[in-house]
Amino acid sequence: MNIVLVGMQWGDEGKGKIIDVLSEKADYVVRYQGGNNAGHTVVVGEKEYIFHLIPSGILHPGKICCIGNGVVIDPEVLKKELQELEKNGIDFKNRFKISTLAHLIMPYHKNLDQLRETKRKNKIGTTGRGIGPCYADKINRCGIRMVDLLNPRIFSEKLKDNLKEKNEIFKKVYAHPGFNFQKIYRQYLEYGKLFKNYICNTALLLNGTDSKESDILLEGAQGTFLDIDFGTYPFVTSSSATSGGACIGTGIPPVRIDKVIGVCKAYTTRVGEGPFPTEFGEDFGKFMRDKGNEFGATTGRPRRCGWFDAVIARESVMLNGISELAITKMDILDGLEKVKICVAYKYKGKLIKNFPHDFEMLNKAKPVYKEMAGWPNQGDKVITFNQLHPNARAYLAELQKLLKAKITMVSIGSSRKSTIFI
Ligand code: IMO
Ligand code: MG
Repeated sequence: MNIVLVGMQWGDEGKGKIIDVLSEKADYVVRYQGGNNAGHTVVVGEKEYIFHLIPSGILHPGKICCIGNGVVIDPEVLKKELQELEKNGIDFKNRFKISTLAHLIMPYHKNLDQLRETKRKNKIGTTGRGIGPCYADKINRCGIRMVDLLNPRIFSEKLKDNLKEKNEIFKKVYAHPGFNFQKIYRQYLEYGKLFKNYICNTALLLNGTDSKESDILLEGAQGTFLDIDFGTYPFVTSSSATSGGACIGTGIPPVRIDKVIGVCKAYTTRVGEGPFPTEFGEDFGKFMRDKGNEFGATTGRPRRCGWFDAVIARESVMLNGISELAITKMDILDGLEKVKICVAYKYKGKLIKNFPHDFEMLNKAKPVYKEMAGWPNQGDKVITFNQLHPNARAYLAELQKLLKAKITMVSIGSSRKSTIFI
């Protein structure tokens, strides 16, 4: 069974935790898009791991973890992440793979990401990791890929060609001194040596497996509304975060995808700029941010918080082909007197049930809420669905009804055992 797991909101839905839980049954865990703008948190016992590039399944011994061709890789970040695994005694040497075709984030991508952001009138609030410029070069057909690091002659040519154009742009547009060829060349060839044993044709590896006998888990990064096509453009990331991206970003054909699981928080968060119809007001927003510890795992930025938005979540179910839902951070809603679900928007007196593409409409849309009774703090004694407070169960039943997909997992804490399977 090959499963794609996607974020249904604006990222940070708790994908890392769910991937870790599902990894137990998988043979391969594969990242298919995004880069180290992602921050996937997995808690094992007392220890917290945050993965930016390595699939969150790596903590399970024996699972093969791949970084697919659709991912953009900052080699310095990958190096540090591998060192961290080593330090923690996690053996990955024979079960970690990187696609030959994955594009590399170069130093100029990071600078450009930050410089462009300073020039923009409407800031996107990027993570500044060079993601957008790296994907832009991929589409511009001047990107440098993992496989190039294994061929110094080709790498040298490509890097020279890039610097010729980029250094001029840096000087003329951004008054930046530009980049030294030798320095980058040497540094990146070092990375090549370091990663040599892991770089391979991952599409061949993944398609060589018989889906009746082995299970592939595809780990989405970001979320549906950060998707380059379907998200709240231009306040999005530069990759296809929706389930379709899993095929493009791995070389696993669509006919081999058996199921898509969507992950969403029991409320909504967003980090960075852009429309967010159900965003809380300042005081309650701060209260919920502290309660849910809503600070970015990558940049540490405070996340914006709001009520559950069924309009966007329903759109997510449609775009991704989601049949099962994992609801995370349900415990953060504990202890509230009332909870709300946005069931539609209102704009110029009209009721809007589908996600609007018109930017002004989206920005000015007022949420229409269904209010429900809250539930008390449930502590950590809850281990089955029936032990959840009746009001919490009613809330989940309402989500299930609105989204027309089955809730199969509910997370009520960061640890592995705080997961209810239905
Ligand atoms: P995970 O995988 C939340 C947001 C950034 C910014 C926008 C564009 O942890 O859910 P980029 O650096 O990608 O060009 O930034 O996208 N963003 C995320 N927000 N979780 C993520 O990943 C994100 N990755 C990017 O904050 O608003
Ligand atoms: Mg994140």
